[in-house]
Amino acid sequence: MQLPSVSSGSTPYSEVDAFSRTDRSGFWLEAAKAVDWIRPPTVAIEQRSPREWGWFPDGELNLSANALDRHVDAGRGDLTALLYDSAMTGTKAAFSYRELRDLVADFAGVLRSQGVGVGDRVLVYLPMTPDAVVAMLACARLGAIHSVVFGGFAATELAVRIDDATPKVIVTASGGLEPGRAVEYLHLVRKAIDLAAHRVQSVIVRDRAAVPGSAADYQGDTEVAWLDWEELLVDAVPAAPVSMPSEAPLYILYTSGTTGSPKGIVRDTGGYAVALAWAMKNIYGIVPGQTIFTASDVGWVVGHSFIVYGPLIAGGTTVLYEGKPVGTPDAGAFWRIVEEYRVNALYTAPTALRAIRRVDVGLAELERYDISSLKALYLAGERLDPETWHWANDGLGVPIVDHWWQTETGWSICANPLYIEALPAKAGSTTVPMPGFDVRIVDASGSTIDEPGVEGNIAIALPLPPGALIGIWGSPERYAEAYLSAFPGFYATGDAGHLDEDGYLFVMGRTDDVINVAGHRLSTGSLEEVLTLHPAVAECAVIGVHDDLKGQRAAGFVTLKIGVDHHPDTLVAELVALVREHIGPVAAFRDVTVLDRLPKTRSGKILRKTMRQIVDGVPYTVPATIEDVSVLDPLLALFRTAEVGAGSS
Ligand code: COA
Ligand code: AMP
Repeated sequence: MQLPSVSSGSTPYSEVDAFSRTDRSGFWLEAAKAVDWIRPPTVAIEQRSPREWGWFPDGELNLSANALDRHVDAGRGDLTALLYDSAMTGTKAAFSYRELRDLVADFAGVLRSQGVGVGDRVLVYLPMTPDAVVAMLACARLGAIHSVVFGGFAATELAVRIDDATPKVIVTASGGLEPGRAVEYLHLVRKAIDLAAHRVQSVIVRDRAAVPGSAADYQGDTEVAWLDWEELLVDAVPAAPVSMPSEAPLYILYTSGTTGSPKGIVRDTGGYAVALAWAMKNIYGIVPGQTIFTASDVGWVVGHSFIVYGPLIAGGTTVLYEGKPVGTPDAGAFWRIVEEYRVNALYTAPTALRAIRRVDVGLAELERYDISSLKALYLAGERLDPETWHWANDGLGVPIVDHWWQTETGWSICANPLYIEALPAKAGSTTVPMPGFDVRIVDASGSTIDEPGVEGNIAIALPLPPGALIGIWGSPERYAEAYLSAFPGFYATGDAGHLDEDGYLFVMGRTDDVINVAGHRLSTGSLEEVLTLHPAVAECAVIGVHDDLKGQRAAGFVTLKIGVDHHPDTLVAELVALVREHIGPVAAFRDVTVLDRLPKTRSGKILRKTMRQIVDGVPYTVPATIEDVSVLDPLLALFRTAEVGAGSS
């Protein structure tokens, strides 16, 4: 059986899914043909140990060549690869595949001149400009491993990543632009270098006209060489793509875990390329001549997979947007881009839609633009509430694809495979598992719950498909412990939900202390670690509470040390500033409540779930292990002043 092509649309998805289950190797070797291999794989998957597999073990390829050179070589060099649109500076630019390949080859030459080669790490800390795409693909060209860090993190978080990834080089810019302020990257990088134990060899700086600052400002005041991107380019010798084993790490991407130290998710090369090629064609319909606008950030997995690698491997056109869904300048920003670039697939987070809805509930802005090129709207990053689903579905007149995935999986675990078969959508559901993802609902003991509609832990039977993580950087034990131990034979997703009678998955929320604020994943544990740094704080708890715009927001509860005389307002301001300094503005941390004591069980466990239920105004559960129900009184007094019919259950 052939894999369905984008244009055929004749094979039902159930058949494709069945093929992937009954002949895993055959399915993925067939899918692998969509990628250009220097040495084509003869084996799809190899098991190394009871819990370890490798994809396409004898294959060799280069992802920069797959994203660029092969399209030029196939005569598509003049096709637009990248469209850059900055609402922050008013800049617009288009890059053909040939132009982008040349920029990447030159910058790879720059990196090589700095001693960067196969397996070396390069930390990329850049705003949403084409430089970020160039830097990532230049690393891939050399077989170097990039680690992109989101601009909204503080220097401390950057330092943690420097120490973990131990990069040879940092690539950065004079700064990023957020509404009303510049983000001073150089200052943050300088501070992070001071904080980190690892010694970086050089920092390559792109001097961005819109934000003052350059390498020269810092030269000489650290052991690190601060170098100017443009100057280095003058002598650059373009670098050719290096042949890389399929299983070689392509990148490390840090994500929040359940502890304060972020996990460096490691992605392979060949499996990722094959998975993205399959997804681009069958879920998003991206082929040469089609345009995708993924309104995310290169600092997140969505940016890696669906701004950079996926669209370019597929030979499509990708839009890189520096701006917000609202306020830059208005709630029509996305529709303007769809019209201007004839966008076919639009991808964003539900938060962005809610932000648009909040200011333009009637979608008046849509009247100003022609969005007839748009074929579907894709949403991920957090739960898409049915209300927003209906609003978008009714207002836009295109299929809405709510799909579920994680930094770890690299592409969607569940989605609607529109270009194989458009399955009927159900509000609140992320539709069905994609090939290779054997999704199960399991109970606390790891037994599969077969009954439809029963909520449990969402787990994926091993092995994971191509494209999913191959480990945690520097810590194989942590990978096994974090994901493979809870339910033997399964990868634990950390999400809870249920499958319905049609096999549709409903993802309801996390089972751990990870929260999702505006589609950004944060660990409440790491926020708590920061709050306890304040000398007045005795104890604290951070929980994720409902937020109409951002889905969730972090709410902190603290008790003070005895004898501390701190004005609550001052304390709150200091705690908010502390989180901003240690984690960064991305945490959007503003809520702090000072309590006399935290509600706890007899054994001292903080009642986070009950607290969350009280704050969210939903019926709350009082665990049997609670010593004295009155521990809830202060919270009830603060958050249940206008009782909403909730009672203990
Ligand atoms: N660099 C530096 N700071 C950043 C940043 C970046 N790349 N991105 C966000 N921040 C800052 C913001 O400026 C803000 O700082 P402030 O406290 O000084 O105002 C803070 O981080 C919180 O940002 P955010 O949570 O994004 O809130 P917002 O009010 O600025 O914007 C939305 C709200 C809904 C418009 C915005 O969250 C959004 O576009 N969300 C979509 C999320 C998304 O694409 N996620 C990707 C996963 S698919
Ligand atoms: P991240 O790794 O930052 O992409 O976050 C992954 C987490 O976001 C998942 O584990 C889910 O908790 C949540 N998530 C992502 N997409 C969805 C979705 N479509 N529906 C519900 N939750 C989602």
